[in-house]
Amino acid sequence: MQPGVIDSRNLSPGQRVAVKYFIAALVLFLAQVVFGLIIGLQYLMPDLFLGSLDFSTARMVHINAMIVWMLFGFIGSIYWLVEEEAGVSLVGQWLANLIFWVFSIAVSVVVVVYLFVQYGPGEHSSLWLINEGREYIEAPRWADIGIVVCMLAFFYNIAATFMKGKWSGISGVLVLDLVALAGLYLAGMFYSTNISMDQYWWWWVIHLWVEATWEVLVGCIMAWGLIKTIGAKRKIVTTWLYIEVALMFGSGILGLGHHYFWIGTPEYWLTVGGFFSALEPVPLVAMVVHAIYDAGVHRFKSGNHPALAWLIAHAFGNFFGAGVWGFMHTLPQINLYTHGTQWSASHGHLAFFGAYATINIAVFYLAIQKWRGNVWMSAGMPGNGWKWKWSLALLNLGMIGMTMALLISGYEQSFVERALGGSTWSAYFQAQQTAWFVQGMFWRQVFGYIFAIGTVLLIWDLLTVGRGEHRPQAQLEEVMTA
Ligand code: HEM
Ligand code: HEM
Ligand SMILES: [Fe+2]
Repeated sequence: MQPGVIDSRNLSPGQRVAVKYFIAALVLFLAQVVFGLIIGLQYLMPDLFLGSLDFSTARMVHINAMIVWMLFGFIGSIYWLVEEEAGVSLVGQWLANLIFWVFSIAVSVVVVVYLFVQYGPGEHSSLWLINEGREYIEAPRWADIGIVVCMLAFFYNIAATFMKGKWSGISGVLVLDLVALAGLYLAGMFYSTNISMDQYWWWWVIHLWVEATWEVLVGCIMAWGLIKTIGAKRKIVTTWLYIEVALMFGSGILGLGHHYFWIGTPEYWLTVGGFFSALEPVPLVAMVVHAIYDAGVHRFKSGNHPALAWLIAHAFGNFFGAGVWGFMHTLPQINLYTHGTQWSASHGHLAFFGAYATINIAVFYLAIQKWRGNVWMSAGMPGNGWKWKWSLALLNLGMIGMTMALLISGYEQSFVERALGGSTWSAYFQAQQTAWFVQGMFWRQVFGYIFAIGTVLLIWDLLTVGRGEHRPQAQLEEVMTA
């Protein structure tokens, strides 16, 4: 096996499955960005693609592509680490491959239907065949059931592999978390014609995913990633993981109430949601402290610089996007004004990118390094590693720029529509014509292009990094004692 050349013999069976998931994830990431640019443009040119690809359809593709690519990335990450953690090879490799193809084909069919069919009659058939109409998880019911089956098979594969091999603190948390993550998806299949009830259950998926189970999942990946990138001590990362999980679940579960303020649920949710969600930043601070402390102890010496950089970006992105941007509008007194404005979009973008895009990218870099035969990816990469550095910079600059632009628009919207206009229908439109709002939309698009350039550069880098590199990755101990 020649170093510097992509060769699947460098990978364990589970990792061969993982890289398939990573490739699919990157394709969907690119699709998300393309559709993001389209809907961003539609804010500026409202009749763009009107009648052929309406805002509502393109927006649906944008955010569903995001959920699916991140799930693909997570599934891939777990396949990537499971064998090393368990000390045995994957139990059902053929099953893992089969589900990958079933899942990917199902996703492609769903997207084709979104794009070419788009609408149907207000009957059950549309719900079964076109889309279920719940933001972020809009797959039609047939695909919904398919996803559950795929998840069960995936869960079996992972749990059985750990059962055959050995358990660790990280894998214990991971498997319990997967039970919760998959179980919650079922809540999103609950159907009722009462919109309040429908929303009540739908948030169980969205909120309890991103603010509880996904956070714990990335906590596990982070713990493992710190061991891999800087040789952090297992005992230390596991202790941190337990603390973070306890704090995350302690605040995140009842923090759910911050989505129940104005949807027709009882009034006590104002207090419950306000109080518990206000505590949610605490575990996110812990995560930053944890990552920086560990990286600091190891003097930031790492066998994979891009991966470590993206792990650090994750720690900060999670804290700012979810913690700070979430906290800003989580008290009911404030949310009364900001609810459903561009303020929410500002937070939604920074949080999903900061918390989840970043850590997936970190694992992509770990994967490509090994796939190319464990090549050198520390200081002194060819061209000084300009591609990964520039894509890191452009993606983060693009996202921060979009977030700021949206925040300005959202502020103006809250002020004019809610505070001055008293939330009337005409105030809703008036707010969206104000100069600050319109300029915010313009600058979001400009930074969106910067983000898109960063995405293309990232993909280019992942395709080429380590190519022709003959130096093997120095043993971590060597790097650290050097
Ligand atoms: C990584 C974690 C998080 C992600 C990915 C995330 C993402 C999102 C997204 C996309 C929305 C918009 C939902 C919609 O379409 O209506 C939203 C809403 C919201 N988020 Fe987060 N969030 C996270 C963590 C947090 C945290 C920690 C807090 C509070 C401290 C928070 C507070 C809120 C609030 C109050 C809303 C409702 C906004 C409204 O009323 O329109 N989020 N979040
Ligand atoms: C490439 C540049 C991007 C542009 C121009 C863009 C644009 C947009 C637009 C116009 C919307 C609809 C907002 C509305 O309904 O008013 C949207 C929604 C959303 N986008 Fe993006 N987007 C981009 C990239 C991303 C990325 C990278 C992520 C996350 C990793 C993301 C996550 C989201 C989320 C979570 C929503 C729903 C927000 C909500 O309902 O509050 N977008 N995006
Ligand atoms: Fe939430």
